[in-house]
Amino acid sequence: MYQVFAPGRVELLGNHTDYNAGVVMSAALDLGTTVTGEASAGSRIRLRSAGFPEVIVDASEPLHPSGGWSDYPVGVIAKFIEAGYEVGGFEAEFSTNLPVGAGLSSSASIEVATAVLLCRMFDWEISPMDLARLCKKAENEFAGVNCGILDQVSCIFGKRQHAIFLDCRKESVQRVPFPEGVELLIVHSGVKHALTGGEYNERRDQCFEAARTLGVPALRDASTADLSHAGLSDVVRRRAAHITGENERVFAGLSALELGDLETFGRLLTASHMSSMENFENSTPELDSLVRIATSQPGVLGARLTGGGFGGAIIALVMAENIETAKVEILSKYLTDMEIDTDAYHCRMGDGAIPDA
Ligand code: GLA
Repeated sequence: MYQVFAPGRVELLGNHTDYNAGVVMSAALDLGTTVTGEASAGSRIRLRSAGFPEVIVDASEPLHPSGGWSDYPVGVIAKFIEAGYEVGGFEAEFSTNLPVGAGLSSSASIEVATAVLLCRMFDWEISPMDLARLCKKAENEFAGVNCGILDQVSCIFGKRQHAIFLDCRKESVQRVPFPEGVELLIVHSGVKHALTGGEYNERRDQCFEAARTLGVPALRDASTADLSHAGLSDVVRRRAAHITGENERVFAGLSALELGDLETFGRLLTASHMSSMENFENSTPELDSLVRIATSQPGVLGARLTGGGFGGAIIALVMAENIETAKVEILSKYLTDMEIDTDAYHCRMGDGAIPDA
């Protein structure tokens, strides 16, 4: 019997930069998906997850999406088969302690848990970055979500008390020690985030349109200063300004972390949220309310939406000694402001599924 844990992730800075060949800073969480599994004779695959009907597929027959949670593991199985790996029969049971619909990459954690389980069960040697690419392919082509590579990389490469700096053009990862004394508070807006809606793809298209108009391969190759006289429509210019601003904030955030300057790091988080509000328009009134409330609490260094946006959760960077009070205050003020009774999670930066990757 094999057991694999793959965490969820938070995006710290670098919103929607991954599919623009840009840079991102993220961290794996100490919450995630656990899968236990065992190989069996033949080609029958049984997948279980508490609260859902069992799913049975056959590795020797064509695999198709069903629209349910099993598209994530089955998509990974399909991509391994497509890449020429001999997937045999097995049984696997999944469980998660990640809040659903919070934008903390529960789907990537299921994909990565499945991929690592398969490698262990069938004794395959694959580089961690190739595993991330395969899981992303499963999400893009099987689950039908056009995401970048951020989520899968974060779930694999995370490290306890470290941020991950990912350069999406080079596909290179650097682990950056995160100073002690400041912790992460995740607050769910109570409004589910789902990337299957059209907004994510629309933003993606607007970014690609901006790069085409600017005559650059990707928005990674433009700076905020390049945008003012480029003949972009107002909407497309604001979308592009979010991406160029985010890339700039990620580099500034990296320097701040290296100097142990968490106040600056926190300010960058809040600036990122303001840009989501004004430029990228991927925030919601609920997320804005949470950020406003969080940033007015003592000991909160900064806050922003995390991940795709359009719902989900915010992250707040909070001094350790203030975190419990901040959590209670934010939840109660949010209940008054938005009439939403929600949950907050005090998380630590945890190990990825392959912590020594
Ligand atoms: C989602 C996607 C990622 C990334 C973020 C926004 O989490 O899955 O690839 O684009 O949104 O940064």
